[in-house]
Amino acid sequence: MKRVLKLVLGLIGFVLLLGLGGAAFIHFRGIPSYDPPKVDLQVEVTPERVAQGVKISSMLCQSCHAGEDKRMTGKWIADLPAEFGKIYSMNITQDTFFGIGKWTDGEIYAFLRTGVRPNGKYAPVYMPKFPLMAEEDVYSIIAWLRSDEANVQAAQTEAPLSQPSFLVKFLCMVAFKPLPLPPAPILLPDTTDVLAHGKYLANGVYACFACHSSDFTKLDMLVPENSLGYYSGGNEMPDLEGNIRITANLTPDPETGIAAYTEEEFVQAVKYGKRRNGKQVRYPMEPHTSLTDTEAKAIYAFLRTVPPVKNEKGKID
Ligand code: HEC
Ligand code: HEC
Repeated sequence: MKRVLKLVLGLIGFVLLLGLGGAAFIHFRGIPSYDPPKVDLQVEVTPERVAQGVKISSMLCQSCHAGEDKRMTGKWIADLPAEFGKIYSMNITQDTFFGIGKWTDGEIYAFLRTGVRPNGKYAPVYMPKFPLMAEEDVYSIIAWLRSDEANVQAAQTEAPLSQPSFLVKFLCMVAFKPLPLPPAPILLPDTTDVLAHGKYLANGVYACFACHSSDFTKLDMLVPENSLGYYSGGNEMPDLEGNIRITANLTPDPETGIAAYTEEEFVQAVKYGKRRNGKQVRYPMEPHTSLTDTEAKAIYAFLRTVPPVKNEKGKID
């Protein structure tokens, strides 16, 4: 009997030690590194690309990377749930020491697609990746980063390094992994095909589905349609004061979705934050002011074709 007890106790001790060892390993190893993907690329900086890059980045990068002086010096991401740790975006200006001035175009491209930096360090979920964006739009973002625009000129300020929580480090071992490079070049959609255009903008560029589906942990960034509760909303997101905002059901469900929205009302809501019920759309949904009306209308047309889902939690009031 005693022998068995000893054995059992020994086993428990062994398992405990293994657990502690594993925890210590995860804690000290931190965020994993990967072989950085090699991409041979030299983006020609044309005025058209810079203009497009300025437009996309105003809706896709600035809210997280713009410091107090509006330059891309990085800042504390205040509205990220505390479970993630203390997370700072980084200086992405042209400074060769504090910023990304030394990165090659290929390295920036690979990072935006996969999340793996030139030094191999992976950037977890709080830095979005753009696996479905067309080559030309990724090049435009790179052209903006390389341009004479005031907000990307070299700035010698350093945002503190992120202190990801144990949870994030653990999730990076089991769930959050780098995304693959596209298997073939992604072409811009034919803008005369309104549905294809709208789908590309909503899923490939502005990732509306990422906030407007039902569960951040069940998103499929490569095949958005496979995300849980695709476009049916109900995600809880804190604003800067810690109030919880719930993302809206953008499917055409007649009871809980945007079925009642006219095209014009939708354009007003997305571009200027004016909801159909007259109230203001609140943070973290930001006005997409730089979208053209044609683009906002294309997104509307596309959302009309998404399978309707009844979801009270994301109900439009
Ligand atoms: C939701 C917030 C958010 C958005 C939106 C965002 N970023 Fe980031 N970004 C971050 C955070 C946070 C980090 C730091 C990640 C870390 O600590 O590993 C980061 C890191 C980076 C880095 C790595 C810098 C380095 O020195 O390692 C680059 C480059 C970058 N972002 C570019 C962009 C570009 C370009 C866009 C727009 C297309 C963008 N980011 C949009 C939050 C964001
Ligand atoms: C960062 C997360 C986030 C992203 C990205 C986002 N939204 Fe939202 N959206 C929200 C939240 C949260 C609300 C609810 C805001 C509130 O309660 O005031 C909202 C509200 C809305 C509404 C108002 C619905 C109503 O209640 O009348 C519309 C329309 C909308 N979003 C469309 C879009 C479209 C189209 C895109 C992509 C271009 C998009 N959103 C991207 C988070 C997001």
